[in-house]
Amino acid sequence: MSDKKWLLVIGGSSDIGHATALRYAKEGWGVLLAARDPDAARRNADDVAARAGVETQIRALDVLQTDKLAAFVDDLPVLPDTVVCVVGELGDQVRAQTDLDLATKIMRTNFEAPSLLLELFAQRFEKRGSGTIVGVSSVAGDRGRASNYYYGAAKAGFSQYLSGRRNRLALAGKVRVVTVKPGFVRTRMTAHMKLPAPLTVQPDRVADDIFRADVASPRDVIYVGKRFRLVMALICALPEGVFKRMRI
Ligand SMILES: NC(=O)c1ccc[n+]([C@@H]2O[C@H](COP(=O)([O-])OP(=O)(O)OC[C@H]3O[C@@H](n4cnc5c(N)ncnc54)[C@H](OP(=O)(O)O)[C@@H]3O)[C@@H](O)[C@H]2O)c1
Repeated sequence: MSDKKWLLVIGGSSDIGHATALRYAKEGWGVLLAARDPDAARRNADDVAARAGVETQIRALDVLQTDKLAAFVDDLPVLPDTVVCVVGELGDQVRAQTDLDLATKIMRTNFEAPSLLLELFAQRFEKRGSGTIVGVSSVAGDRGRASNYYYGAAKAGFSQYLSGRRNRLALAGKVRVVTVKPGFVRTRMTAHMKLPAPLTVQPDRVADDIFRADVASPRDVIYVGKRFRLVMALICALPEGVFKRMRI
């Protein structure tokens, strides 16, 4: 393959993954999309290729099949320059409280599998001496709430994995880890929810912020969405005795 830069999106069928692929492609990056639904990945890859005129490829991947993760990484046509993991599942919190399989799936999808997969890239990037890992976590991981605490707990775990990995890599200086914490984004995941318009952004805003934090203006941890860093700082500052009685 040519020496142009390559982006790999894990969760290439998602709205945020699609927007992110397009953002990098517009800068001339080649795009690899990995998804458990190859048809959906193909549709997004074709759209990116048509709109940005770059080379795209797709790969099938179910991240919960953790015994296949190493083979997936080793079989890629190229070790990407940046890997962005947008895999996630909000799940039904109330149902998960009595359905252990669903609760397990939410926690594995948002924490265990992305962390295991990104670790494989971190080790290979370290060996090569370059690369950026971008993990899309969530503000939901900043403080556990009644409405989504399996999802939030898993995102908290994922954010901590990314923090620890960044800490391990930082002294070597060449490989970067970026934690992305969106607030409300209008996507398939939130299509059923009534989101507060002033706090809600579109997927291309997340994509712009990811590209900026990776390439244009390197950052370690970013919040996406109007005023969300401030909103979460206020929520996290609430004393537990107050917070536990609130429904936000
Ligand atoms: N939308 C928001 O308001 C919001 C806020 C904060 C954080 N986020 C995070 O942003 C990321 C992208 O979400 P989105 O809003 O773009 O929603 P989405 O379109 O539902 O994206 C979720 C992605 O995860 C993939 N996925 C789930 N389980 C998988 C598995 N076992 N193997 C491979 N892929 C799997 C889905 O694949 P399928 O297409 O096959 O289902 C889909 O591509 C998620 O991590 C989400 O938690 C979203």
